[in-house]
Amino acid sequence: MAKTYWVETYGCQMNVSDSELMEGVLAADGYSQVSTPEEADVILINTCAIREHAERRVLGRVAELNRVKKRRPETLIGVCGCMAQRLGTQLIQQAQHVDMVIGPDAYRSLPQLIDQASRSAAAVVDVDLNPAENYEGLELRRKSRVSAWIPIQRGCNYRCTFCIVPHTRGNEKNRDPRTILREIGRLAQEEGITEFILLGQTVNSYRYGDCDFPGLLQAVARLPGVRRVRYTSPHPNDLTRELVEVMANEPAICPQMHLPVQSGSDEVLKRMARRYTREGYLAKVAMLRELIPNIALSTDIIVGFPGEADADFEQTLDLVSTVRYDDAFTFRYSPREGTPSTRMRDELLVPDHVAQDRLERLITLVRKIAAEKNLSEVGRTTEVLIEKRARRGMLLQGRTDTNKVVLIPGPEEWIGRYVTAVLTGTSGATFTGFPVGS
Ligand code: SAH
Ligand code: F3S
Repeated sequence: MAKTYWVETYGCQMNVSDSELMEGVLAADGYSQVSTPEEADVILINTCAIREHAERRVLGRVAELNRVKKRRPETLIGVCGCMAQRLGTQLIQQAQHVDMVIGPDAYRSLPQLIDQASRSAAAVVDVDLNPAENYEGLELRRKSRVSAWIPIQRGCNYRCTFCIVPHTRGNEKNRDPRTILREIGRLAQEEGITEFILLGQTVNSYRYGDCDFPGLLQAVARLPGVRRVRYTSPHPNDLTRELVEVMANEPAICPQMHLPVQSGSDEVLKRMARRYTREGYLAKVAMLRELIPNIALSTDIIVGFPGEADADFEQTLDLVSTVRYDDAFTFRYSPREGTPSTRMRDELLVPDHVAQDRLERLITLVRKIAAEKNLSEVGRTTEVLIEKRARRGMLLQGRTDTNKVVLIPGPEEWIGRYVTAVLTGTSGATFTGFPVGS
């Protein structure tokens, strides 16, 4: 009988890509996707452990899915990804109806794990980290025909003191550049995909033998059929002049970067073990703007890290005003068990209401700057890669090379095409546009 699956994804882009990998493994084993969890033989939830809030959401969702299992007891529920890795068997105590707990290095054996779970009363747990597993040779089941996320690196060698990722995904491991280039070449030539986003936790620390990140990026940008290349997320420490020169010289590499800063205070950066100073970060931003004047910059910022004083937070606001980011993801510090930041003295803890107040002030500033920058772009004519039909109305949704979302009227056939459009308005965050040629 045909076997069916349903996969849900929480968290970062790496998880979105991992879900494409899981679906690829299932499809290769004869599974097909169904359109509701109620119809599925296997339900997999790909989870995030980065903040407590992310984990609470997943537990809520797992409880909800248990209702499906009550009606259809043969359905198997698997929790995958970083939360599975972090909690292991503990997860079974918190959610007893879970049949499988599968860490990010165990997806290759999904069919065997499912088979095992279907024959066993006890839950099946595989949370072994495998330093050799980089999923070489597996086919992803890609969702988009327009742009492709290409994982080139898994894990992380940094040890930022707030971060659970090195615990849940292990050390950095990089893929062979030859298979990366072959994969992208095939997607461009055979599937007509033109935009590629290279993915890794500190993607620009990539190295494989003699091939470093600037070398790989340049080779990708020069493949026939490749029109847009992006990558995420770079670590400021591994951002070299050589890399920025490659970006400036290769027309296919987009003038856009997500460069996490976390804090504008040297004291806080030090306690976070970010391994750069405020001045060092600002020097990298200056270098980027010197070589790529129109580059769009976004970032990640944490407020309320242990020991963050008012003066430290003011430094963060000041840095945001100095850099003038196009966008920023802002987070309240969330203590993750096992990370060094949780061992800091209690008197260093920032009270909730202070952290919340800082977050709100920061968001207001970020939005104000983004809106000002976007407003100044209205009237500009630019190339938009059309990605899909917009959620509402008869509009299409696409992106500029600077990664800004634009809604424009047009026929569905334009999906996958580059349309020249004039930006007619902005909500502050996204744009409306009108086609002037394609
Ligand atoms: N290097 C990765 C970072 C992954 S985590 C990448 O950029 O691809 C994504 C973001 O979550 C981090 O940049 C950080 O701002 C935030 N984050 C991580 N751990 C956190 C914690 N314990 N509390 C609050 N925010 C956190
Ligand atoms: Fe986390 Fe720092 Fe690595 S934020 S993913 S430990 S670079």
